[in-house]
Amino acid sequence: MSNADLVIVGTGHGGTQAAIALRQRGFAGSILMLGRDTAPPYERPPLSKEYLAGEKPFERMLVRPETFWADRGIELQLGAAVTKIDPVAKELTIAGGETVGYTTLIWSGGGDPRRLSCPGADLGGIHAVRDKADVDRIKAELEAGADEVVVVGGGYIGLEAAAVLRKRGCKVTLLEMEDRVLSRVAGEDLSHFYEEEHRRHGVEVRLSTGVTAIEGDGDRVTGVTLASGETIDCDILIVGIGVVPAIGPLIAAGAAGANGVEVDEYCRTSLPDIYAIGDCAAHVNRYAGGAVIRLESVQNAHDMAACAARAICGDPQPYDALPWFWSNQYDLRLQTVGLSLGHDATVLRGDPAERSFSVVYLKEGRVIALDCVNRTKDYAQGRRLVEARAAIPPEQLLDSGTELKAML
Ligand code: APR
Repeated sequence: MSNADLVIVGTGHGGTQAAIALRQRGFAGSILMLGRDTAPPYERPPLSKEYLAGEKPFERMLVRPETFWADRGIELQLGAAVTKIDPVAKELTIAGGETVGYTTLIWSGGGDPRRLSCPGADLGGIHAVRDKADVDRIKAELEAGADEVVVVGGGYIGLEAAAVLRKRGCKVTLLEMEDRVLSRVAGEDLSHFYEEEHRRHGVEVRLSTGVTAIEGDGDRVTGVTLASGETIDCDILIVGIGVVPAIGPLIAAGAAGANGVEVDEYCRTSLPDIYAIGDCAAHVNRYAGGAVIRLESVQNAHDMAACAARAICGDPQPYDALPWFWSNQYDLRLQTVGLSLGHDATVLRGDPAERSFSVVYLKEGRVIALDCVNRTKDYAQGRRLVEARAAIPPEQLLDSGTELKAML
């Protein structure tokens, strides 16, 4: 059995930033990072964008140069999936049986891509877009000649993948269960804009469409059957239907939580000396009106990593970060600040036809979020409006000739 003063589970954005932040704050104990992924720590956002497109080499996605970790005294054990936590003995078990003792544990397990459950869901040629290995498999199949793709799910992952695959010359059909894309994260104006953009680029977007079976020839996918009975042929099926928080061992060990592991304002779980950060951490968020939520974003992973590192180093400060997100599709740069969930009014600034506009989300007359498409200035200035929950009359927000910062 090995052990470390600080063990971090997960080598994604949260885990790696926690290790970096701890060393920056002078944490002098031993740090061990355990990651299920076999690739050295990398940035995930390019996976569904430039990496899938073949425009960005993997080396340019590394969180830090490969030697960084050892140079900082951070031990990195890749291909290590933690299967069990004993919170009394303060010991982890890794698949294969190895055990690791810890004094403090940071769980940054992220999420596992949700899988389709219909018949045929385990055929070859069906891929998530979550890890480097997923995208490497997709690229290998494209290079071997696959060119008819069905994408299931109209969230960021499905839409970004669809955009890249069109650019690569594939025939692309996108199936979304709800009556609009991006329904989990955005309002209707933005959904309809993106539906039209994808159609304009040749994606066949099918809304209110469920998959009932996946057809195959031998062990490979050949098509998707819809609830209507229609079958759409494909060589590759990409599934972007959300993530399930990866918290099994924590919950089995007795941590409070269900959809995510519950953490307090310092990212502490209900188990002693165990912190949780990132996609899997259910926390009270003031930008969600004080609701308990999980945030699946790079921003949240980084900010929670910093929060946990501060608490561990004896300088605790409650988590209170402003949520932000981005998505690149075609020549459209979407930047989001705040959380639009629960809005009761929207204001459109600018003209979607000109492909530069913002949707401002209001709740009880106060600005709670903005979605900005090719409109970085609104995004940068809108941050302050969201932070302040500024009460600004809609007719003023509507005036796209006046800068947002002038309205505060
Ligand atoms: N068939 C069709 N569509 C479905 C199905 C289904 N069986 N199940 C879910 N969907 C749709 C949802 O309605 C939603 O629009 O898939 C979409 C999934 O969107 P998200 O939940 O946003 O998840 P995803 O796009 O997979 O992103 C996963 O990666 O980049 C990050 O921010 C992203 O954290 C998110 C994660």
